[in-house]
Amino acid sequence: MKKMFVLAAIGALAAGAMVGGATIAFAQGDVIKQRQENRKQAGAAMRAIKGIIDAKGPTSGAVAQAAKLKELELAFVNMFPAGSDTGDTKALPTVWSDRAGFVAASKAADVAYDQLASAAGSGDLAALTAAFAATGKSCGNCHNTYRAKSN
Ligand code: HEC
Repeated sequence: MKKMFVLAAIGALAAGAMVGGATIAFAQGDVIKQRQENRKQAGAAMRAIKGIIDAKGPTSGAVAQAAKLKELELAFVNMFPAGSDTGDTKALPTVWSDRAGFVAASKAADVAYDQLASAAGSGDLAALTAAFAATGKSCGNCHNTYRAKSN
């Protein structure tokens, strides 16, 4: 009786693992799309800030965009589960082999977004312009090491 119960439990576990495996395989295609969509939104936020700078302000319009960049980044850094290194992705293997460096690059970007937000709130266009350039560098720093160049 006891033995039968154990066998049934093992059978249930095995079935569960199979379903789980299929779910994970499906989710990986999704997660690549999700993180690319996340970065598209980051690009859109940067373009919106560029538009504000070109229009010579008001800088306050960039406060929400800077907050959006931070929010996107906090989600983005966790969108690289094991196995999502293959498929239609530009993420380099270094994302997984040097996870600490990748996280550090993301954290550096977080700091840049915070500085961007306070520059936006300051009303000082020169400060916003400088913070925007620094933010662009933090995007590029991560791309240099962790994203394949587009040809
Ligand atoms: C911590 C690393 C990191 C930071 C910081 C970062 N990116 Fe990226 N970015 C990546 C990686 C990795 C990819 C490739 C994702 C993929 O193809 O799976 C990518 C892809 C992109 C793409 C292409 C998305 C697509 O359509 O496939 C754009 C646009 C982009 N990033 C913009 C930005 C901008 C703008 C910033 C700064 C505001 C930024 N990124 C900051 C790592 C980063």
